[in-house]
Amino acid sequence: MKRCAILISGGGSNMVALAESMTGDHPARPCLVLSNVPGAGGLAKAEAMGIPTAVADHRDYKGDREGFEAKLIETIDAHNPDLIAMAGFMRILTPLFINHYAGRMLNIHPSLLPKYKGLNTHQRAIDAGDSQAGCSVHEVTSELDGGPILGQARVPILPGDDADTLAARVLPMEHRLYPVVLRAFASGDKTRIDLDG
Ligand code: GAR
Repeated sequence: MKRCAILISGGGSNMVALAESMTGDHPARPCLVLSNVPGAGGLAKAEAMGIPTAVADHRDYKGDREGFEAKLIETIDAHNPDLIAMAGFMRILTPLFINHYAGRMLNIHPSLLPKYKGLNTHQRAIDAGDSQAGCSVHEVTSELDGGPILGQARVPILPGDDADTLAARVLPMEHRLYPVVLRAFASGDKTRIDLDG
């Protein structure tokens, strides 16, 4: 059985979708939910699901990115994970961290990559006049939001959408896509998965 650490910064709805999927004949189980934000809503949800939790607060390491990442690695590795799933983890990581978990780390990003790396993805898709938006699950490499794409889910952008209404349409697709991709990845299968909503 593979062990999966999940990294969050906020409400953790993707974390819940992943954790709930890891039952039965799924090849992985959650071993840790780590947040860089103390009090993040996802921590209480993980505790309620009986998953070990930890906090590594980046604000304790102002100007010391390496110190923060060393703390992250130490905290994560204490739980012996085989896989790392970033699920709304809102810190940019350096090669120090990324290389340590090379080939075993996934991220979900709320855009149809390679479009709209970084922040404010939904507003940028609307402003560009796109007809579709969505989310991508990709392997994490040292290029921000740039690793190999393992899955994408698409939704239409409708007249009158704002960033909030579009996010509300994309998020349920994130919850469908990420568990399917994680399961395949945990089985060693990197075949790209596409969903339409
Ligand atoms: C999700 O929409 C995820 O795609 C996004 O943050 C949200 C987290 O929600 N991630 C990023 O923007 C990464 N750059 P959640 O905490 O409810 O899963």
